[in-house]
Amino acid sequence: MGHVVIRNLQKEYIERRCKGRSSDNSSGDRGDNIPVLSNITAEFNEGEMVCILGPSGCGKSTLLRIIAGFDKSFSGSVLIDGKMINGPNPNHIFIFQQGSLFPWMTVWQNIGLGLRYMKDRNMMKGKIRKYVDMVELEGFEYHYPYQLSGGMQRRVELARALAVNPDLLFMDEPFTGLDFLTHMRLREEVVNMHEFIGKTIIFVTHDIDDALIMGDRVVVLGGRPACIKLTCELDFPRPRDFENMPELSRLRSEIFFMLGVPCAV
Ligand SMILES: Nc1ncnc2c1ncn2[C@@H]1O[C@H](COP(=O)(O)OP(=O)(O)OP(=O)(O)O)[C@@H](O)[C@H]1O
Ligand SMILES: [Mg+2]
Repeated sequence: MGHVVIRNLQKEYIERRCKGRSSDNSSGDRGDNIPVLSNITAEFNEGEMVCILGPSGCGKSTLLRIIAGFDKSFSGSVLIDGKMINGPNPNHIFIFQQGSLFPWMTVWQNIGLGLRYMKDRNMMKGKIRKYVDMVELEGFEYHYPYQLSGGMQRRVELARALAVNPDLLFMDEPFTGLDFLTHMRLREEVVNMHEFIGKTIIFVTHDIDDALIMGDRVVVLGGRPACIKLTCELDFPRPRDFENMPELSRLRSEIFFMLGVPCAV
């Protein structure tokens, strides 16, 4: 489960015009079509951690939303496990860029959200406990999201997603806004969890180091409209580090160059 095939995907948005802002109303209020994604063709294997990388505004979230079935207005095809996508799938979980914990629920309730229909209440409690422990939030079970730090909130989201044992996990820049140390820690946790659960994860980031340290595969988007600039398997052992892996370091420089930063430090 979690095998993804994307063929010739194209996406454009319609630019809405504010009435009265433009004297040219030749196309009515509908506005122009703005191409965002062009000719995206890729295949992700079951169990892979795929990192989609690209500069801000290039269309990463748009692509992720399409694969997750939230956006149906595109051309081309997206197949998951051999089936054309047709809307969001309850076995696929999306962790949004903006965060999506329910503020009126405690950590325990948020993590247990997808398990609430389990008939065996003890089994349900055991599962919630397992994921609370996995993200090291013992002692915070009855705290509300506003009582947690940004990193702790992200960990609750991760636990809530993993608790339902999804076939596919979509993560849209889940480390946004975290301090450096929390970012590093969570990055390690996500890698460990991926090794443990073995599910397909599609992870969107603009951080080249995250993509190269975490991914089994990296897909680099760039240009306007965005197309795939590079896709490659990252067959490097873990834990990875740039200092002792010259090939990884060379790839890092290549991607920086590709994204318009010729001499990264
Ligand atoms: N609903 C929408 N209507 C019109 N244009 C949109 C819409 N959503 C996104 N866009 C445009 O599409 C482009 C890609 O947006 P998207 O959010 O996919 O970028 P991104 O790569 O995820 O950026 P970031 O790294 O900043 O999150 C941007 O130019 C954005 O303005
Ligand atoms: Mg985005």
